Amino acid sequence: MTPQSFIATKEHRRFAEFADAVRRQHTIGICYGQAGIGKTLSARRYANWHKAENLIEQWGPRDDSDYQIYAALARTRTVFYTPAVLTSPKQIHAELEHISTRVSICVDQHLEKIGKKTGPHTRTGKHVELLIIDESERLNATALELCVTATTGTT
Ligand SMILES: Nc1ncnc2c1ncn2[C@@H]1O[C@H](COP(=O)(O)OP(=O)(O)OP(=O)(O)O)[C@@H](O)[C@H]1O
Ligand SMILES: [Mg+2]
Repeated sequence: MTPQSFIATKEHRRFAEFADAVRRQHTIGICYGQAGIGKTLSARRYANWHKAENLIEQWGPRDDSDYQIYAALARTRTVFYTPAVLTSPKQIHAELEHISTRVSICVDQHLEKIGKKTGPHTRTGKHVELLIIDESERLNATALELCVTATTGTT
């Protein structure tokens, strides 16, 4: 799907309102619905993952145009994550820490650029406010709990 072909449907607006509320209230929410209704696409769009995914995954040499991505991540402060089938809780925890750290560094870069840097990274995912897990039925209770600790740093 090209970025232009995304349609801001009523379902997407409802998803965004729900995600905003979960993020604001520092809580956990479950989003469910028929296959193909647009859950994955809505979540990716909300997290600006269609813009940030390559940068977060490849973590290669930077370009001036990347500042637009840092700004987009700073607006949503959201990590989008899809656990692979048969991933162990330990692996999920490690992957989430990894992604959250990278997103947080990007937000830091943005804050630095606009003169609002908040000091050194004191914990993993310092700037991450929402973690969206797609296909979360792949996780067992232990893995879900580890997801929370991976981003909040609490146990
Ligand atoms: N907002 C949208 N704009 C454009 N196309 C959309 C939108 N939402 C869904 N689609 C179309 O529907 C397809 C399925 O969407 P998506 O994968 O997000 O569904 P899903 O709810 O995650 O399904 P599943 O439960 O199977 O994971 C997309 O590949 C896309 O073609
Ligand atoms: Mg899906």
